[in-house]
Amino acid sequence: MAILITGGAGYIGSVTVELLRAGGEHVVILDDLARGHSAAIPADVPFYQGNIGDGELIARIASDHDLESCIHFAALAYVGESVTEPARYFDNNVRQGIVLLDSLLQAGVRRLVFSSTCATYGEPVQIPISETHPQQPTNPYGWSKFFMERIMESYERAYGLKFVALRYFNACGATEDRGEQHDPEPHLIPNVLACAEGRLPAVSVFGNDYSTPDGTPIRDYIHVADLGQAHILALEHLRGGGESDHINLGNGQGYSVLEVIETAREVTARSIDLRFEPRRPGDPSRLVADASKARTVLGWLPAYPDLASIIRSDWKWRSGHPQGYASGE
Ligand SMILES: NC(=O)c1ccc[n+]([C@@H]2O[C@H](COP(=O)([O-])OP(=O)(O)OC[C@H]3O[C@@H](n4cnc5c(N)ncnc54)[C@H](O)[C@@H]3O)[C@@H](O)[C@H]2O)c1
Repeated sequence: MAILITGGAGYIGSVTVELLRAGGEHVVILDDLARGHSAAIPADVPFYQGNIGDGELIARIASDHDLESCIHFAALAYVGESVTEPARYFDNNVRQGIVLLDSLLQAGVRRLVFSSTCATYGEPVQIPISETHPQQPTNPYGWSKFFMERIMESYERAYGLKFVALRYFNACGATEDRGEQHDPEPHLIPNVLACAEGRLPAVSVFGNDYSTPDGTPIRDYIHVADLGQAHILALEHLRGGGESDHINLGNGQGYSVLEVIETAREVTARSIDLRFEPRRPGDPSRLVADASKARTVLGWLPAYPDLASIIRSDWKWRSGHPQGYASGE
C-alpha cells in the first residue's frame, strides 16, 4: 500500500518523502512541477506529473498503487502573489483541492494529512498562538487554507474523511540532500544566505518600527525535517484510529529578523548587508506558536529547535549545491 504525496517535488514535501522512505514507507508523488524540482524526486519513486485538480489522473494513480492515505502539500503559497492573483489561489488551492478530496474518497482513501498554515490566524490577538486562537486570515492564501480546513471538517461529518490539518509556522533548514529553492524566493533565511553567498547585494528588512525589542518582526522558525517528522506522526495518529484535528507546528520561540541575520553572520562567517524598507501591508509584528498540542496529541518534539542549527543545515546544503537543484543530483 502506498501514500500519495501531493507536492512531493516541493520543499517540505520532498523532505517528508525522504523521511518516509527512510522509515520503509511506500510513496507515490503527484506534482505539476509549477514550483517543484524533478531533481528533488528520488529516481525509484513513482512520479506522476500532473494536477491535483485532475480527477481522472488521481483515479489512475489510486488503481495503479492501492493508496491508503494522502499527505497533501500541493498548493501555491506566496502571500503577496495571492493578494494580486486571488482567482489563481482559490482555483489551485481550493477548487482543485476539492477535486483531490472527492477523487480520494471515490478511491476509498479516507486518511489525509493537510498542510495548513499560521496564516489562517491572521493578525494575532494573543501570543503564543494556540489552535483555539480566532482564525481571521488577512490574505487570499490564508483564506484558501482556512476554506480547505472547513471543507475537510464537512467531509468528515458527511463522508467519514479523517484528517489532521498541520498549521505550520516558518519552515526552514535543509537535509543533506534537499533544501529550499523557490523562484522568486519569498522566505527570509534563503535570502539571507543568498546574501552571504554574494548572490544578493543586501537583505531587505521590511519595517524596523514594530513593537518588538529591536523593531523588526518576530517569527517562529521550524526545521523542515521536524515538520516532516510531524507528518509521519500525524499519519500514525490517523492509522491508529485517532480523531481528526488541527495542530500547530512551531518551536514556540520567536526570533526577530535582525536576530536571524546576526545568527547567519555567525554561522557563515560572511558579511551580510541589510537594507531597511517600509513595512509590508499585513505583516504582523509577532507570530509565535503554542506548539504544546503537537507534543500531547502526536508526541512530537522538534529535534533541531535552535536557530543556529537550522541555519547551519541550510548553509551546508547550499554549500554542497551551489546551483541548487541544477547542481546535478
Ligand atoms: N514553506 C513554509 O514556510 C510554509 C508555511 C506554512 C504552510 N506551508 C504549506 O506547505 C505546503 C508546502 O510548502 P512548500 O514551501 O514546500 O511549497 P513548494 O512550492 O516548495 O511546494 C509545493 C509543491 O506543490 C506543487 N503544486 C502546487 N500546486 C499544485 C497543483 N495544483 N497540482 C499539483 N502540484 C501542485 C508545486 O509544484 C510544488 O512542488 C504548501 O501547501 C504551503 O502552503 C508552507
